Order: sequence, then structure tokens, then C-alpha cells
Amino acid sequence: MLFGAPGSGKGTTGKMLTKLTGWPHLATGDLLREQIARKTPLGLEMQSILASGRLAPDDLVSRMVWDRLGWPDCENGFLLDGFPRTIPQAEGLAQWFQGRLFRPVLIHLWVEYNEILRRLTGRRTCPTCGAIYHLESSPSKETGVCDNDGDALTIRADDQEEVVLQRLQTYQSQTWPVAETLRKHGILVEAIDCGEMDPESVADRIVWRLDRISGSIAKKKNKAE
Ligand code: AP5
Ligand code: MG
Repeated sequence: MLFGAPGSGKGTTGKMLTKLTGWPHLATGDLLREQIARKTPLGLEMQSILASGRLAPDDLVSRMVWDRLGWPDCENGFLLDGFPRTIPQAEGLAQWFQGRLFRPVLIHLWVEYNEILRRLTGRRTCPTCGAIYHLESSPSKETGVCDNDGDALTIRADDQEEVVLQRLQTYQSQTWPVAETLRKHGILVEAIDCGEMDPESVADRIVWRLDRISGSIAKKKNKAE
């Protein structure tokens, strides 16, 4: 589980970890934005919630996740990004893990406030492939154009300053207590101070930490190569 404030690097790190481990990267924010882009009934309902920086309803997001975790590609492991994000979601996930052969670990990505703001205000994303860039720290080769598919890069609707502040507030009040809830359920919580680390080093550090907990990551890494 990749856990951390908006802009802490969950999406960037998740994409790298997928390459290193072979595990699918399941980001609830991406799943919701996909519904919005496709203008499904669910997407139309979620559009204003995401644009305001508030959270989608627990039962809806949880159902989406339980469904996705049932896919065969999750059998050997998976990376959750942005879930769980509330205490009810955390309780539900702890229950989901019960009786299943997984060793869940919450990776808390620590980044200080000013760096979060710098990252979110400079973020650009590709609406087609989901690639994440930053104007200064990871720019695309050609300004405003995705390296992968040549599409125009966009600014996420919730990256405007007032929405960012609301998202940070939501994080503090509803998401921050999740780590403690999972710890109480015996789930390992590992914190990484990554405000001054480049994305590759963050991903390598996570793999190294997970390797120390269980050798299985290294094996999957070799398989993915
Ligand atoms: P979500 O999409 O999950 O947004 P978030 O948590 O606010 O996180 P972000 O995606 O903004 O940041 P990130 O940590 O992924 O950082 P990134 O890698 O992009 O959720 C959006 C909304 O959906 C929520 O507000 C809510 O409404 C809804 N939602 C989602 N999940 C939900 C749930 N479980 N329950 C209810 N509602 C839910 O990086 C940011 C920038 O920093 C990029 O420009 C990147 O290039 C740069 N960067 C990354 N790492 C580094 C580094 N190491 N060094 C320098 N720059 C870096
Ligand atoms: Mg993200």
C-alpha cells in the first residue's frame, strides 16, 4: 500500500514499482478519473467530488477495489495507491486480508509541505497513458507533449491551489489516522523520508525494504526482467 499526502509520489513510485515487481498498480484516483473521462454514470456523479478535493463515498470506492483485487493478475501481489484512505476503508481492507496469503505492508511516503506544493503545482499528466511529469524535476522531452504517445499534457482539475489545500486538509483529517488503524491490525508500517530523493531512488529503497521483509520481491523482480 502506497500511502502519503497528495503529491508525495504514490503514482510516480507505483508505476516504477510495477516494472520492478511485476505487480499491478491499482490507483483509486486513476480508476475514478477513468470513469469521469468515459462519462459513465458513476463518473458524472464523481466529477464534482474530485474537483472539490473531497473523498468519494467509502462503499463505492471499496466495492471498486474488492472487484479489482479479484482479477487473476493480483494473485501474486499488487500495489495499492490511494487506498485505504479512511478508517472504514482500512477496516475493510484489514478484513479482506484475513485468511488470505498476503503479507501486507503500508509504505508511508514522507514529504514536507513546501515540497508537496512544488510538486503539485508543477505536475503535468498525459490523459491517454497516465504518464506523470513535472515541469522542473521530470520534464517531458518536448514541452507539453507526452514522450510515450505525443499527446498534449494536461493539468489535473484538482491541482488548482484552493483544491490542493482542501485535499491536504482532507488528508490530515481523514487519511492520516489510517496508518495507525492498520498498525493496530498487525499490518507493518514502513516510513520513507523521500522529500529529497529522486523517484528511482524511492522505488529502489522500497524494493530493498520489502526484500528485507520477504525475499519474494527479489524473485518477482528477476521474473519481471
Ligand atoms: P489521487 O489521484 O489518489 O490523488 P492524491 O492522493 O491527492 O495524490 P496525487 O495523485 O495528487 O499525488 P501522488 O502521491 O500520486 O503524486 P505523483 O506521483 O503524481 O486521488 C484523487 C481524488 O480521488 C481524491 O481527492 C478523492 O476525491 C478521490 N479518491 C481517490 N482515492 C480515494 C479513496 N480511496 N477514497 C475516496 N476517494 C478517493 O507526483 C506528484 C508530482 O511530483 C509529479 O509532478 C511528479 O513528477 C513529482 N514527483 C514524484 N515523485 C518525486 C520525487 N521523488 N522527486 C521529485 N518530484 C517527484
Ligand atoms: Mg496519484
